[in-house]
Amino acid sequence: MCGIIGYIGNNDAKAFLLDGLEKMEYRGYDSSGISVMSGNKIHTFKKRGRLQILRESLKNQQDVSGFVGIGHTRWATHGGASDINAHPQNSQSGRISVVHNGIIENYISLKNFLLEKGFKFISDTDTEVVAQLIDFYYKDNFFEAVKTAVSKLEGSYALGILCSNEPDKIIAAKKDSPLIVGIGEDENYIASDVTALISKTRKIYRLEENDIAVVKKDKVTIYSNAGKKVLDRDKDCTTIDWDIESVGKGNYDHFMMKEIMQQPKVLKKTIDSLIKNGKIDFLDVGLTDEYLKSLSKIFIVACGSAYHVGVVGRYVVEKLAKISVEVELASEFRYKEPLVDESSLVIVISQSGETADSLAALREAKKLGAKVLSIVNVVGSSIANESDYVIYTLAGQEIAVATTKAYSCQLSVVYILALYFAERFKSISDDDLSKYIAELISLPDKLELILQQKDELLEIAQKYKDISCAFFIGRTLDYAVCMEGSLKLKEVSYVHCEAYAAGELKHGTISLIEKGTLVIALLTQDELFDKTVSNLREVKARGARIFAITTANHRSKINEVADDVYFIPECLNLMSPVLSVIPLQLLSYYSAFLRGCDIDKPRNLAKSVTVE
Ligand code: F6R
Repeated sequence: MCGIIGYIGNNDAKAFLLDGLEKMEYRGYDSSGISVMSGNKIHTFKKRGRLQILRESLKNQQDVSGFVGIGHTRWATHGGASDINAHPQNSQSGRISVVHNGIIENYISLKNFLLEKGFKFISDTDTEVVAQLIDFYYKDNFFEAVKTAVSKLEGSYALGILCSNEPDKIIAAKKDSPLIVGIGEDENYIASDVTALISKTRKIYRLEENDIAVVKKDKVTIYSNAGKKVLDRDKDCTTIDWDIESVGKGNYDHFMMKEIMQQPKVLKKTIDSLIKNGKIDFLDVGLTDEYLKSLSKIFIVACGSAYHVGVVGRYVVEKLAKISVEVELASEFRYKEPLVDESSLVIVISQSGETADSLAALREAKKLGAKVLSIVNVVGSSIANESDYVIYTLAGQEIAVATTKAYSCQLSVVYILALYFAERFKSISDDDLSKYIAELISLPDKLELILQQKDELLEIAQKYKDISCAFFIGRTLDYAVCMEGSLKLKEVSYVHCEAYAAGELKHGTISLIEKGTLVIALLTQDELFDKTVSNLREVKARGARIFAITTANHRSKINEVADDVYFIPECLNLMSPVLSVIPLQLLSYYSAFLRGCDIDKPRNLAKSVTVE
């Protein structure tokens, strides 16, 4: 959700800023801009639309050279996507330039305050208020002005700030939105995300809540609640060991396909990190038997696809560990006065580790006395930092806005966690435990088999590429996967989709089924197969076309009712979500491709939703 970048050093700031923004464009892509310091003057260039438009517009600009600059790629919150509302936002004197990720909740009262002081505004953004406020407090010390201004802000912010009177520094400030400082050789950087810096440095420092960083080319000073410290490259910084290849598309046309195809590898890596020699190894997680015994309830809290993992998690944990589980959308949980106390474990699932609602839900849970275990993909992210226990998914950097590989890795962790609880609560026999663990370990190979047959999904997508709506139906675990399949198809191909529990359709929604409506059905739970087939007959009788996903043991029965069928490899019913979601991911990808959609950057979306 908005990408921030900053550079200070001896090289051309513009080139670095534009390259960094390109790497972070997935965070927001409705407009972009840069401010570059030339001598004691700030030059700002910004454009509505994709970064390429900004790049083109900068080609013939003379005054974009300088060694200090900030940049931004935007996902609009306050004010539509326009040149004026794009960041950087400058104060009217031109002295202060700001890029911002987050939302300033009290910007109206601050704006009124500044209007009374004679300030004039030209944009609809909350960020312009920040720039003017810093300018208002500026006497002769940039740092003091920023410090005073941010103390007046309510809401969330990651800020990169330039001041023309002090061109030897960038100031960065953070609250509830991610921001990192990168340490280079005679140059330093700020960014929302490691991706933007990885080609320049592996040494990064994640700003903590309420930190203000003064970034000069040869020195970074952090002012925090704990006092002032000059960053030591070796002592204070994390070394990022990512493969540089991970930030490119490789041989694929889109990150989404690259990430779908990476799934066997990253799933195996994640499973191997938690299962050693056929046994679950949670030593590093730190849960104790005494603590587990004190639990009466588990909550799983997340947003979007991560929430869908939670829906699978509820079925699986309840079935295996026999403990009551509630799964909640983080945006609801945080405001509903949840019945959480010391005897509750709250599991927060998040790829980015920065989702604003999930972070707020985590804080609410802790306030109510619960401990929080998070399942997170980004090491050192806010959710990971603030949790009592953390399990990392090892999906690697996920760049396509629509999640695929992170979802699969989260699923695998949820299974392992359920088995771990079952083992500790003694609700599973040794034989069953071994059987499930063996199945889990075999899943990456089975997933590979599906990917080898991916052209079958292209054919299905071709057949249904002109649909305007689709229904996904299934029961229990299949219903949970339907939710994810439906979200995937709608977000990348803009087909209106709904996921329904198969038995629920006839309680109203079946009125929408007419001749030609596509119904995508999941039937991977043997004992529920006949029940869902009955629901399929109901929609078929009303003219629906049916695409079914099941296993080969149901071949003859399913062929009688479905127009198209995809068979996933046989696996234990309980673990089928890990496999059945893959054809749905591929179908979504191919549908989006055939419909000419912008697969990696679907309209209106952004990766990492750091506003509520
Ligand atoms: C959908 C998707 C989103 C995320 C959601 C939570 O493809 O990616 O629904 O799952 O925004 O994000 P994280 O997992 O980063 O908390």
